[in-house]
Amino acid sequence: MSTYTPVDNRKVTTQRFAEMKAAGEKIAMLTSYDYTMARLVDEAGMDAILVGDSAANVMAGYETTLPITLDEMIYHCRCVVRGVKRAMVVCDMPFGSYQGNPQVGLASAIRIMKEGGAQAVKLEGGREIIDTVRLILGAGIPVMAHLGLTPQSINSFGNYNVRARAEAEAERLVEDALMLEDAGCYALVLEKVPSALARLVTEKLTRCATIGIGAGPDTDGQVLVVQDMLGMNSGFKPKFLRRYADLAAVINEAVGSYVADVKASAFPTPEEAY
Ligand code: KIV
Repeated sequence: MSTYTPVDNRKVTTQRFAEMKAAGEKIAMLTSYDYTMARLVDEAGMDAILVGDSAANVMAGYETTLPITLDEMIYHCRCVVRGVKRAMVVCDMPFGSYQGNPQVGLASAIRIMKEGGAQAVKLEGGREIIDTVRLILGAGIPVMAHLGLTPQSINSFGNYNVRARAEAEAERLVEDALMLEDAGCYALVLEKVPSALARLVTEKLTRCATIGIGAGPDTDGQVLVVQDMLGMNSGFKPKFLRRYADLAAVINEAVGSYVADVKASAFPTPEEAY
């Protein structure tokens, strides 16, 4: 039984995001990549589900998010959409599907909406992708932006450390955030930036809701990777991550019990057979 009952049971839209920001109601977002998890997450009262390109890490086992393809993201998105009734489904545009050529970005976004069934797309970056963002928005596709630590640029950054601690980078981030809001982005993920900077951006943006991950308590909402918050990746322990369950232990015990029962011929019993 869910411990949270949504204030509003209707399908979450970009308008609802704006309402929540204006009313100071925090926005809850988690990732999901498959039907079963998305259904559980939606039923627990989630506002938005991100089909993140973190699927490259947690579903496919890659070290970075770079290898996942547009076809693979569309596949994950379709699986999620089939499990969701209320939450808004946002799908990440993967590395290589929008950088450089705005027309390529628009074509990729259209595929995500048409074939994946998403309600919005998410892109990493600021001024360097602003023409692409404008083109996608012009096609009637809502855009969630992503600034701060943008994992698709890991090879430029060189590490996954906190971003925008230095004044120049912080100023650039604020300018980019304002530019993205001005273009029409309805939401902005801020990843691994100082809390004070995330608060400043959240205060400056009047229409675009900020969603933080490792960005402190003052953003309009929060997002985590579902496997991380459920404790399925025991080795991943960043400071910002709160574990709400220890599913690694639960699964290990359940699977171990099954193996032991099979080995001992204790499963199945006559009651479990036809
Ligand atoms: O891909 C992802 O899961 C993300 C979140 C960490 C924001 O972009």
